Amino acid sequence: MKLLVTGGAGFIGSNFIHYWLANHPTDSIVNLDALTYAGNLENLRDIEKDPRYTFVHGDIRNPADVVRAMEGVDVVVHFAAESHVDRSIDGGKVFLETNVIGTYNLLEETKRRAGQIKRFHHISTDEVFGSLELDDPHKFNEKSCHDARSPYSASKVAAEQLVRAYCHTHDLPFTISNCSNNYGPYMFPEKLFPLMTVNALRDLPLPIYGDGLNIRDWIHVDDHCRGIEAILEKGKVGETYCLGGNAEIPNIEIAKRILDILHKPHSLIKFVEDRKGHDRRYAIDSSKAKAELGWEPQVKFEEGLEKFVQWYVENRGWWEPLLAR
Ligand SMILES: NC(=O)c1ccc[n+]([C@@H]2O[C@H](COP(=O)([O-])OP(=O)(O)OC[C@H]3O[C@@H](n4cnc5c(N)ncnc54)[C@H](O)[C@@H]3O)[C@@H](O)[C@H]2O)c1
Repeated sequence: MKLLVTGGAGFIGSNFIHYWLANHPTDSIVNLDALTYAGNLENLRDIEKDPRYTFVHGDIRNPADVVRAMEGVDVVVHFAAESHVDRSIDGGKVFLETNVIGTYNLLEETKRRAGQIKRFHHISTDEVFGSLELDDPHKFNEKSCHDARSPYSASKVAAEQLVRAYCHTHDLPFTISNCSNNYGPYMFPEKLFPLMTVNALRDLPLPIYGDGLNIRDWIHVDDHCRGIEAILEKGKVGETYCLGGNAEIPNIEIAKRILDILHKPHSLIKFVEDRKGHDRRYAIDSSKAKAELGWEPQVKFEEGLEKFVQWYVENRGWWEPLLAR
């Protein structure tokens, strides 16, 4: 089987490519990536000469690049996106161009190749469901309504709706996953986990938005990759699956635990003005994925966090050059 992975030079995409090639030795992968500030070929240096792997430097906003990358492909796994909420608050246009128009170009080419493409899997996020109160007993699931609250999540809602509508109209075989916040290796140091870690390693302040009590449901990227695999292998065409980590943790707690692992003082934590429109809490109910796919997260948060911090300690040469981007 030949997979097209879009955005494979980013955080989750590069972890997915490693995971897939290790577990599916007879498959091949084409990685279509524009190498924005978040794309990094260093993430894939160890497999760049693997005959099963091909890199296409191209942009999903450009239909010609999409046509080129989809040659002979059986399955599309679509990660490519502008992914950082703060950047979408500063300027949302590129989020619409890549996340919406880019997705449209991929769908158009999938339609043109109907019959060739056996599955179009779209990577979405729990952020499309809006925000929960801290004391709300509910979690998001596949029946939750869309309630975008940042330009990033609005672009992901639009992309997700486009996938559903396009595939329904043209009878194309799609699946969608809505995953909670990931952590793991190759995570660009603007996101919470690596930002806390690289700042602690350099004895710099750890900036925490607002009161630090905002909660995310953290999932290790390996569990996300296993979830996508389960959907590709056992998921029903036309269905959506919510994938969560069962680890709801306030941001301030993440900062404290990272400092503890590195034996640094909590006094490095610095509260800063809250993010505009900051969502209070995300939480995912993955019971459909468990019942239908036999999937549930395997990485225990404490072990995953230790491993995560250790990776950043050992891979300074990977993250230091990224700080200037
Ligand atoms: N990070 C999370 O916690 C999380 C959680 C749920 C869902 N997601 C979704 O997973 C996907 C991957 O997220 P990530 O954190 O790995 O993102 P990332 O920012 O680390 O990587 C995005 C990748 O897409 C590429 N890209 C951006 N614009 C492109 C374009 N126009 N054409 C081709 N390539 C382009 C970048 O170069 C980069 O390699 C996104 O769709 C995101 O919405 C992320």
